[in-house]
Amino acid sequence: MTTNINELLETFHRYLTSVDNALVRDAVTRIDWDMPARALEPHPLACVSHLDRAADLAPAGARPLVRFLAAHGSDLRWGQTYTEADFGKAFIDNYGWLEVFGMRGHFANDEVAAGLLILGPDIVYPDHHHVAEEIYIPLTGGTEWRMGESGFRVRAAGEVVHHASNVNHAMRTGQEPLLALYIWRGGPLAAKSTITGTVAQGRA
Ligand SMILES: [Fe+2]
Repeated sequence: MTTNINELLETFHRYLTSVDNALVRDAVTRIDWDMPARALEPHPLACVSHLDRAADLAPAGARPLVRFLAAHGSDLRWGQTYTEADFGKAFIDNYGWLEVFGMRGHFANDEVAAGLLILGPDIVYPDHHHVAEEIYIPLTGGTEWRMGESGFRVRAAGEVVHHASNVNHAMRTGQEPLLALYIWRGGPLAAKSTITGTVAQGRA
């Protein structure tokens, strides 16, 4: 299947402009969407297999984007910041991100990075933090999120989750995979997060 990479940026942008949230609107307005494409080799990961289910779960507004990802996932460049040594094999087999734009993604942008994160079912992404401010919009519901000292809380698809600079945050999925859109700004855009928790945050 031929992938029109411009369609990735267009559907991503179109979804973001439909999100009724002041923080997201501010971020979207500040981004210069006229970005040069990079020629990147495809790099599929095992987690791409969760995209079909994510397309079933995504709300109507996000479906064009998620369907595009499900149809073209294997032609895109997926990455991982962690290794098996960090969080184990189950995590690595069920985790990956796609940078739509940023310092290394399909489109070049030195000021802001954005893309998509996949976590398979029953995965814990332990506490971590980073300098960049992060805006997440889960496109599938059912994942529990926490930030700072607060407890885990299930977030619905389309809710906006804001992680301020250097604040600890963690996610854990339930029976369904997580597909989440992220925007990173105001910090090193390709930095590996600092891990602060341990993997042993079992389900209560
Ligand atoms: Fe983060």
